[in-house]
Amino acid sequence: MSEEPQLEARLEAQEAFEPPASFVEQANVTDESIYEAFEEEWPAAWERAADLLDWEREWDQTLDDSEEPFYEWFVGGELNACANCVDRHLDERGDQPAIEWVGEPGETRTYSYSELHEEVNAAAATLRDLGVETDDVVTLYMPMIPELPIVMLACARIGAPHSVVFAGFSASALAERMEAADSDVLVTCDGYYRRGSPLDHLSKAREGLDQVDEATTVVVERLGEDAPSTVGSEHVYGDLVDPHRGSEVEPVTRDAEDMLFLMYTSGTTGKPKGVKHTTGGYLSYTAWTSHAVLDIEPADTYWCAADIGWITGHSYIVYGPLALGTTTVMYEGTPDYPEKDRLWEIVDDYDVNQLYTAPTAIRSFMKWGTEHPDTHDLSSLRLLGTVGEPINPRAWKWYYRHIGGSSCPVVDTWWQTETGGMMISTLPGVGTMKPGTAGPPLPGIGADVVDSEGVSVAPGEAGYLVVDRPWPGMLRTLYQNDERFLEEYWNSYSDPEDGEWVYSPEDGAKLDDDGYITVLGRVDDVVNVSGHRIGTMEVESAIVGVEGVAEAAVVGSDHPVKGEVIYAYAITEEGQPETESFREEIVESVEDGIGSFARPAEVVFTPELPKTRSGKIMRRLLADIANDDTLGNTSTLRNPDIVTDIQQEVREEEDR
Ligand code: PRX
Repeated sequence: MSEEPQLEARLEAQEAFEPPASFVEQANVTDESIYEAFEEEWPAAWERAADLLDWEREWDQTLDDSEEPFYEWFVGGELNACANCVDRHLDERGDQPAIEWVGEPGETRTYSYSELHEEVNAAAATLRDLGVETDDVVTLYMPMIPELPIVMLACARIGAPHSVVFAGFSASALAERMEAADSDVLVTCDGYYRRGSPLDHLSKAREGLDQVDEATTVVVERLGEDAPSTVGSEHVYGDLVDPHRGSEVEPVTRDAEDMLFLMYTSGTTGKPKGVKHTTGGYLSYTAWTSHAVLDIEPADTYWCAADIGWITGHSYIVYGPLALGTTTVMYEGTPDYPEKDRLWEIVDDYDVNQLYTAPTAIRSFMKWGTEHPDTHDLSSLRLLGTVGEPINPRAWKWYYRHIGGSSCPVVDTWWQTETGGMMISTLPGVGTMKPGTAGPPLPGIGADVVDSEGVSVAPGEAGYLVVDRPWPGMLRTLYQNDERFLEEYWNSYSDPEDGEWVYSPEDGAKLDDDGYITVLGRVDDVVNVSGHRIGTMEVESAIVGVEGVAEAAVVGSDHPVKGEVIYAYAITEEGQPETESFREEIVESVEDGIGSFARPAEVVFTPELPKTRSGKIMRRLLADIANDDTLGNTSTLRNPDIVTDIQQEVREEEDR
C-alpha cells in the first residue's frame, strides 16, 4: 500500500483536528482566554468589535436593553459605513486592490481603494440627482457585477438603506419586495453571462416593474451589444454616473442604530420577512467576525464564493472584508464554467488566502474529483470556511485535505440572515475542529440546545437551538412589523415576566460534552436547497395559483449534493388531467413566483393529502415518504390509506 491511501484512510477516520501550527503562528486570535474575557466583561467586551471601526462620535452605552427584545447597540455612536469600508483606507492603501472581479467569460476588473472611492462617490452623486434621500430604500436587482457592491456602498454613503434582491428571484418576487419596502428606485442591469451565454435580466426586471407603482429605474450595461433586450425608457447607469466622476459626496453621519439595509428572507408564512440591519452593530459585528473567524488582514486576498444577493455576500464579500481594508474577490459565474477547475484557477491566479463557500459546492467539487484542484497551485490558501447548511464529515475532510492541503483550518460557521454574522464556529487559531460540528458559540455569544419547554437538554440529545443573549449583529426588527418580529423569533422560549428573552433561530441541534454544537437543520417549514432558504408556504402558494390545482403541500427531501430538494404534492381539481404538461405548468408557476432556484425536483399528483383528524396536513409524513424513511405512527391520520398510495406515486415519479 502506498503512503497516500493510508493517509486517506487515517483522515477518513479522524474525528478531531488541531489548528495547524503554521496557521496559529500568524493568526489574529490565538489566546483561548478570549472566551473568558468576553464572559467577564460582557457586554462591554463587544467594544473590541466596535473599535475595529472609525466612529465620528463615540457611543455612550454599549448595550441598551431597556426595551427587550428591541436591543440597541453602541447607543449614541455615529459613523458612516461607506466611509469605514472605503475612505478610511485611502491614506494607507489607496492603491491596493479593494475588489478583484472576475467575469464569467474571462475578463477581469480591479478596483483599488482609490478607484472604488471614485466609483462610489459618482454613484452616490447619481442617486442624489435621482432624488434619493436619507432613509429612502433603494432596491438593487443585480447579479455578481462590481456595480452591485459599488451601489450598495453609495447607498450607505448617503444614508439610504439598500434592499438587494437576489438576481435569481422572479419578476413577481422582485415586485413583492419593492412594494413591501416602499421602494421606488431600482438599480438593475441588462443581463449577465451564464455558461458562456448572455442572459437577459432586464426583461425580468421590467416585468417586475409592471407590477409596482411608478419607479425610477437605472440599468447597468453589463452586456452592452450582447444584451438580449436593449435599454429603453430607463436611465443608463453609465450615462448618469460618468459626469460625476471626480466629484465627492460627503458621507452622511448615521446613528449607530440607523438602518444600513433590509434583506428579505423566507419564513413560515408565504410572505417574505424584511430583516432590518443597522449601521453600528452590524458593521462592527461583520468586521469582528471577519477578523476573528476568517482571520482577515489588510494584506490578504480573500474570497467568499457566495452571491451578494444573499446575506453571506453582504456580510462577507462586502461589509466585513472591506471594513478591514482587505482585497475581496468577486466571481460572476458558475464553478464549472468553462471547466470544473474554475475556482481553483482563480485561487491560483489571485493567490487567494482564505476561501469561504457552501457545503453544496464542496459536495459538487468532491463529485467532480481531485484532478481539478490538483492541477493548480493552492498553496496560497491559509484558511477555509463553510456556511449555509450542515456539512457532512466526509465533505469536510475532503475540503481540508484536497483544497487545504491538510494545513488550513476549516471553520464551519453557523449563522443566519437575521444574525447578521457568524455565531457558532471554532476560532481557527484556538479551537480543535470536529468535522460535521460547527463548534462552540463564538466568544460573547450565548447559545444552548433546549427541549420544547425551553429546558436545556443533555449532551448528545437533539433539541432546539436557542440564543439567549443579544449580540451587536442581530436584526433589530422586521421592517414595519414589530409584531411579526416578536412572534417569529421571541415567542417560543422567552419568559418576559422574568425578563428572560430567548431568540429562536428555528434550527434543530445537539451539543456534545465539550459544548460543541452540531446543527441538524431547520425545524420550521423552510427548505434549504443548495444553501438557498426557501419557505415551503411560498412554493405552495405559487402552486395553488395554477388553475386546476386544488391543494398543495411542499416538503424537503435529502439530496446528496444540494442538501435538500423540493418535493411538491398536488391535488388536482375534478376534470383536470394529470399530464406531463400540467406538471410542467406547476413547475413554471414556481419559477415565475419565486425563481428557478426554487424549482420542485418532483411534482407528485395525489388524490388526497395525509391529514390529522383536525385537518392539518402531515408534512412530516410527506417528508418521510420523500426521503423513503420508515414512517412513524399513521394511526392518527384521518385517511391512513392515502400513505401507501402516495408512496406508490412517489416511486413512480422518481422512476420516470
Ligand atoms: O438552518 C441553518 C442553515 O441556514 C439557515 C440560515 O439561512 P440563511 O438565513 O439563508 O443564511 C445562510 C447563510 C448564513 C440556518 O438557520 N445554516 C447556516 N449555516 C449553517 C447552517 N446549518 C448548519 N451548519 C451551518 N454552518
